[in-house]
This record gives sequence, C-alpha cells and structure tokens, in this order.
Amino acid sequence: MKPESNPAGDILSFRATLDGVEHEVPYTQGDALLDCMLADGLDPAFQCMDAHCGTCMVKLRHGEVEMRKNKVLSQRDLAEDYVLLCQSIPLSADVWVNCDE
Ligand code: FES
Repeated sequence: MKPESNPAGDILSFRATLDGVEHEVPYTQGDALLDCMLADGLDPAFQCMDAHCGTCMVKLRHGEVEMRKNKVLSQRDLAEDYVLLCQSIPLSADVWVNCDE
C-alpha cells in the first residue's frame, strides 16, 4: 500500500542546496522532491527517474522523507542518510537535502 504523503497538505516547501546555493523549493502535494525542483527551474542531476540509476542520490540533512521505492541505495547509504530525489516524499515540514554531497 502506498503511504499517504503530506495528508494534511501542510508541507509547503523544502530546502535544497544545489551548486552551493540554498533554495526554498515549493512543494506540491504527492510529488517527489525531484519533480518539485524541476518545476522550480532547478537542474539537479537525474537520469532514470525510476530508482535504479542512483544519479539523483543526495544527502538528507534534516527532516524526514519516505522513498516510494529504492533499487540502488545500499543499507550503508541509507544509514548515512542518502536518499533518491526522484523517489522521496517529504514527511516533515523541515526537509533539507544537500545535492552537493
Ligand atoms: S534518477 Fe535514477 S535513481 Fe533517481
């Protein structure tokens, strides 16, 4: 069963560091972080958008996300707080991802 993300619709944005610049990215309910960054005109690295290439791996610096699926990150990656932008749905209002790590 797919988790219901942002059920109250109270997550309005998240923070993303990209190329040394910090952005406040508007969040659209139900979208993955990557979708929102692209919609906001940002250009984070990605390829497959299907959880298997690992190109969109970023460090979750703060907050909580849930990945819809993960076919590439190891247990060690997960333990070190790496997530896939193309699969991550924010679960908290204080999400910050660093695309430069
Ligand atoms: S773009 Fe390939 S895993 Fe996210």
